[in-house]
Amino acid sequence: MLSQKMKEALNRQVWMEAQSSQAYLAMGSWAEIQPGLKGCTKFFFKHSDEERMHMLKLIHYINERGGFAVIPSLEQPVLTFVSLKAAFDQLFKHEVKVSESINNLVEIALAEKDYATHNFLQWYVIEQMEEERLARECNDKLELIGDDKSGLYLFDRDIMTMDQQ
Ligand code: FEO
Repeated sequence: MLSQKMKEALNRQVWMEAQSSQAYLAMGSWAEIQPGLKGCTKFFFKHSDEERMHMLKLIHYINERGGFAVIPSLEQPVLTFVSLKAAFDQLFKHEVKVSESINNLVEIALAEKDYATHNFLQWYVIEQMEEERLARECNDKLELIGDDKSGLYLFDRDIMTMDQQ
């Protein structure tokens, strides 16, 4: 059985994952109308789907442990970006925030002596390490590329394979 504090914290995470999904959905829609960003468009939409999966996993966990997962209302995400780099900067910052939030949940689980939730959260801890790594790698590459169009072409071509490393 989840404590009240744990339930509330997990429900805040449901909101955070849903908000992430929404933010990446907006990035995907923006990328889709830019010339030549087919790969990045796919990447953002795929990540939006993954965040929805993270949210669903939490919803099922809360409900299975005797809580009630509350489906939250969402904020309007940022819709447009001055550059692809700006979108990836935002994605990276967002992932760092999500990692902090997961760490906070782990702390609460330990304080509440909720070892089942602590165990459940380990999947998210590992997932966040991977997501931060990928976002950092994309940002570093885009920093190097700058305004070089052939570099951007290659980045867009390769991004889906970077995602599988
Ligand atoms: Fe589910 Fe990328 O945070």
